[in-house]
Amino acid sequence: MLGALSTSTASLLAPMAARANTRGKGPIPYGAAVRTDPLYDDPAYQKAILDYCQVIVGEGGLKWIDLRPDRHIFDFTQPDRQLAFAEAHGLEMRGHTLAWHGAMPDWTETIASAEEARNELVSHIHTVVGRYKGRIPSWDVCNEPIAERPTRNAPIRDSIWQRHLGRDYIELALRTTAAADPAARLVINDYNFEQPTDEGRARRKFFLDLIRDLKARGAPLHAVGIQGHIQSDTAIDRSGLTAFVAEIDAMGLGVLVTELDVIDKPLPGPEPERDAAVANIAKQFLSAIGAACRPEAVLTWGISDRFTWVPIWFTRDDGLPNRPLPLDADYQPKPMMQVIQDFTHSFG
Ligand code: G3I
Repeated sequence: MLGALSTSTASLLAPMAARANTRGKGPIPYGAAVRTDPLYDDPAYQKAILDYCQVIVGEGGLKWIDLRPDRHIFDFTQPDRQLAFAEAHGLEMRGHTLAWHGAMPDWTETIASAEEARNELVSHIHTVVGRYKGRIPSWDVCNEPIAERPTRNAPIRDSIWQRHLGRDYIELALRTTAAADPAARLVINDYNFEQPTDEGRARRKFFLDLIRDLKARGAPLHAVGIQGHIQSDTAIDRSGLTAFVAEIDAMGLGVLVTELDVIDKPLPGPEPERDAAVANIAKQFLSAIGAACRPEAVLTWGISDRFTWVPIWFTRDDGLPNRPLPLDADYQPKPMMQVIQDFTHSFG
């Protein structure tokens, strides 16, 4: 187990006043995915997080590939540093993620049986959630369980867990997490629910089928995470998204926006025009959700265009830097930040 903080890191952690409550009445908590190094090494980045956020989540750090370089090792360096920062500044930290098909270390491909898969998943969750019991109040237990293009015969996405345990891995992960920290809020997180396409409709249908089934089995599921990596070349299916969220709300489950950003690859080049379009798309998305319920939190997948995953897959053809987030690369607010603040303060 690794994770000691250096003394210089400790000096950075000057405590600040507690922030607004995170649930119930008042503004909806806003937060962002963070990267560990700039959180400590970049004062402007640190200031941006503290100026705007009530919640943070590690963009990485709690994924298997970060935590488990080897079957016998847990490396908690990143999440320990992220959580120390959050606790020192009165921020809440979400945990992302315990059971996912992505960011898995190569050694997990050697898992050869259902029993081995069950033991690895259960011991991983007990170790990770146990370490942060009472300190990480909300977990993306399962990430992206629905197949990219789900069908009646194949609604669940392929993963090491699905392959060995079938869809029961989802209920197992939820029950194991609840046992490790009974007070934690357990979330299933997924994406592409806002699209006006057959695929978007199918994803909404099969995701609702999944959570309805989990509820019927009495699985400890408390909320749904709607990622919100919005493709700007398709309109937001407002009525489809609102109806989807209303069904989740009617099941007594909470809703969080967990990874909002607008993929600006197909948008026009000039920044003022592009930023206005990005803000408008974010507004359409948030208001479609807000029409059905008060989300528990709104998080963007990063806060500044300086640190974003979008160019990994959606580099612009014109070579211009992507601008998918609420602050620009110099940490200056863009119209998207105003949209988010208006929305998070619109529930009285
Ligand atoms: O840290 C290594 C660095 O040492 C190495 O030099 C570099 C080059 O290979 O890779 C760095 O690791 C990268 C890591 O991000 C940190 O930047 C990994 O290759 C890269 O795969 C990883 O991508 C992350 C991806 O999830 C996979 O974990 C993205 O940053 C992160 O934004 C993305 O986030 C996902 C959510 O978890 C789930 N929803 C979709 C979202 C976007 O894909």
